Amino acid sequence: MIIELSDDYLPEEVLHRDKQIEEIKNIFKNFKKLGMGTNLALFGVTGSGKTTIIKKIIKDENNAIYISCSEAHTTYKAIKKIFNLNISTQEELLKKTIERLLKEPRILIFDEIDKVKNLSQLVNTLNTIYRKTMIPIIIITPKRNIIKQMPTDARKTLFFEKITLPSYNAHELKNILKSRLKLVDQKIRDLDEGTVNYISAIAAQHGSARVLMNLTLRCIQKNNFTQKFIEIVFKEMMKEDWIDFVNEINETERAFLRCLLEKCDFEKEVTSEELQGKMKLTAARISQLINTFERYSAITSRHENLGRAGGRRRFVKFDTKEIYKELDKMMGYS
Ligand SMILES: Nc1ncnc2c1ncn2[C@@H]1O[C@H](COP(=O)(O)OP(=O)(O)O)[C@@H](O)[C@H]1O
Ligand SMILES: [Mg+2]
Repeated sequence: MIIELSDDYLPEEVLHRDKQIEEIKNIFKNFKKLGMGTNLALFGVTGSGKTTIIKKIIKDENNAIYISCSEAHTTYKAIKKIFNLNISTQEELLKKTIERLLKEPRILIFDEIDKVKNLSQLVNTLNTIYRKTMIPIIIITPKRNIIKQMPTDARKTLFFEKITLPSYNAHELKNILKSRLKLVDQKIRDLDEGTVNYISAIAAQHGSARVLMNLTLRCIQKNNFTQKFIEIVFKEMMKEDWIDFVNEINETERAFLRCLLEKCDFEKEVTSEELQGKMKLTAARISQLINTFERYSAITSRHENLGRAGGRRRFVKFDTKEIYKELDKMMGYS
């Protein structure tokens, strides 16, 4: 079987997350002792192990209810999921859910909370639940700016503690892959060391164990382990990511992308100074923006030394013609 490489598989062994698991478990332990606790927002890029570690903790501690907002994407559905109560009005449902929570207190976990259609409405509802029960609420999302989007009142009462899972590096991803491959059938798990290293290095561009698993799965399915094939699969996967990426970027990033589309293409380069002049931001901020877009393989940059007097200059262009056209289209230019 290769089910062990699928997205939903919950591994027995969760690597490189001991510190964060410990921190989150403290909330669970305090809740057991005191019947109440503080709220938590768990952040981290896609594939950084958010769902995995929370599910592992639930399994170990056994006092939480897990709700995936990508499945229950309205407030009504999310609240209904808590006890599966069959009540058709939202108000009554909330009332009965609170009553039941007071009798059977459980930590409430809302995974992928950004997927909910009306965030303010859900957060206000969670605020009501928290005020009446003091039960800890954990929200999980890759979007760090989500707290700013919450209604002020609710945000102040809920007062989320924050934990961010760092992106995995190539070394960590390699360990994760090796440990997972041990569970897979002997016949198909014989990836050579070079392939394991290469897949881990590619996946490290996003720090994502999801990219790691998906790349491996595709190689095994197609029985192709060449670097060229791995790169092609990665590019395809990234294409799906752009849509999410572009939808998630903030105002400054959007303006930066517009500026890029104006100033350069897949052949013509633009210098970071030019971008800085146009955007009226600091050099450090421009460099940060370039790094963000480069991390998503949307652009590539190179440095050039301009001799003793000239210093170093950074040149930027879109990674490929395809990416350029795709982003141009997404931003509504063609
Ligand atoms: N620390 C880890 N150890 C082992 N496997 C991991 C680890 N982190 C993530 N994975 C695996 O990577 C994939 C994506 O992880 P997931 O928890 O779904 O990420 P997220 O929820 O942050 O998007 C899953 O298949 C999961 O089993
Ligand atoms: Mg997840």
